[in-house]
Amino acid sequence: MRNKIIIGNWKMNLSLADAQDLTFKLKSSIKVERPAEITVCPPSVYLLTISNILKDTPHIKTGAQNMFYKEEGAYTGEVSPKMLKDLHIEMVIIGHSERRQYFNESDKDVNLKIKAALKFGLTPVFCVGEDLKIREKGEAESQVKNQVLEGIKDLNSADIEKLIIAYEPVWAIGTGKICSGEDANKIIKMIRSTIKEKSTPQISETVRILYGGSVKSDNFGEHIKYPDIDGGLVGGASLNFEEFMKLIDLASNAHSQVQSHSV
Ligand code: PGA
Repeated sequence: MRNKIIIGNWKMNLSLADAQDLTFKLKSSIKVERPAEITVCPPSVYLLTISNILKDTPHIKTGAQNMFYKEEGAYTGEVSPKMLKDLHIEMVIIGHSERRQYFNESDKDVNLKIKAALKFGLTPVFCVGEDLKIREKGEAESQVKNQVLEGIKDLNSADIEKLIIAYEPVWAIGTGKICSGEDANKIIKMIRSTIKEKSTPQISETVRILYGGSVKSDNFGEHIKYPDIDGGLVGGASLNFEEFMKLIDLASNAHSQVQSHSV
């Protein structure tokens, strides 16, 4: 059975003091493992501080928001997978739509980054999602499928199994407009069958696929009940301690319910 997972993407937000404060609050409130897995992704300059706070709390992981695909070298301003590994970071968001939109990251870059992350034993949180124009043209499924295929190009089944995928429709990110649970589940099912085509039926049932885009505690209860939605990649709501805790509770309860049905 797939564990639910909630990942907080803090983006370029919070002062260092606020980031530490939020982390200490999470740490003191989540003393034992929850049914849902939890990761926070601070800005890269805070990674060491936050991962140090959480180092004796293995059930709250620290992830990075981005990395370059080269191991080292003259790439001013970039952070390498090797450096993340040095900081004991376990996870890295790759191909977030804001990276694609503002920093011109292509599907090819995303593919190289996924391969580099896997090489260094980092779990890629591979983001895909269509923009509003594509959705209005009725091409959401085909574009997302294409992003998935380009992102996993040349990966073997064992590598595909290590991915976490996040379906994040661009029009829903930071806009307050959430994609309905039904629609999100439909696209996520399609992603799962694409993974099946490129790996094995068993792997397609193991890979976690999350929803992201305006996730809040008052709208996510609907989504997390869908069997193919394995959790959330949360932006704005992850900056607020109470909201983030509510989302962790929603995912944990959904996990426990699935578990009791499958017993
Ligand atoms: P949001 O961002 O929850 O603020 O919409 C989600 C994301 O970009 O991962």
